[in-house]
Amino acid sequence: ADPDPLQDFCIADGNGFPCKPASNVTASDFIYNGLAVEGNTSNPFGSNVTAANVLAFPGLNTLGVSMNRVDLALGGLNPPHHHPRATELDIVVKGEVLIGFISSGNVYFSSVLREGQIFVIPKGMIHFQLNVGKEKGLIITTFNSQLPGAVVAPLALFAAKPAVPNEVLTKALQVDESVVQLIKSKFAASS
Ligand code: GLV
Ligand code: MN
Repeated sequence: ADPDPLQDFCIADGNGFPCKPASNVTASDFIYNGLAVEGNTSNPFGSNVTAANVLAFPGLNTLGVSMNRVDLALGGLNPPHHHPRATELDIVVKGEVLIGFISSGNVYFSSVLREGQIFVIPKGMIHFQLNVGKEKGLIITTFNSQLPGAVVAPLALFAAKPAVPNEVLTKALQVDESVVQLIKSKFAASS
């Protein structure tokens, strides 16, 4: 359910998500074609998320739901991330996908799913999808928020702007600064 925050923060600027006058609303306001297109998975993760959230599909505004299309190349990974504002329900449409999440007690729950099987990611839990099959993978993910938000763990830690201080990362991960710098360099281009 959506109420509670709709965004990470909401500094009022008078815009928000205003409503179109009802007399101007047509069937096309309730249709979005963006998920019909396969995403480009030519990137280091071998995955692509196409979001049909309220920003892409204004017709969702105030309705408390949204959907993504997740394309996975062979071996592709949708990297560990969490949604601060939504529970996620996944259906594997194509391929064989390892889906896992880690609870706040650090218990790892996972399963390999095939076409038609669904997996629920409880709100806020860190999760990922890895293509473990022999073909491309396709998952449709659904959310009980019009704007679930996504915090991608490796990018949040190593590609934030401004950068998270190395001292925080070396201490948190118990590694030398060279390791932190190496990982930061991997994400320098993508950020
Ligand atoms: C997959 O986890 C997604 O957020 O679409
Ligand atoms: Mn997700």
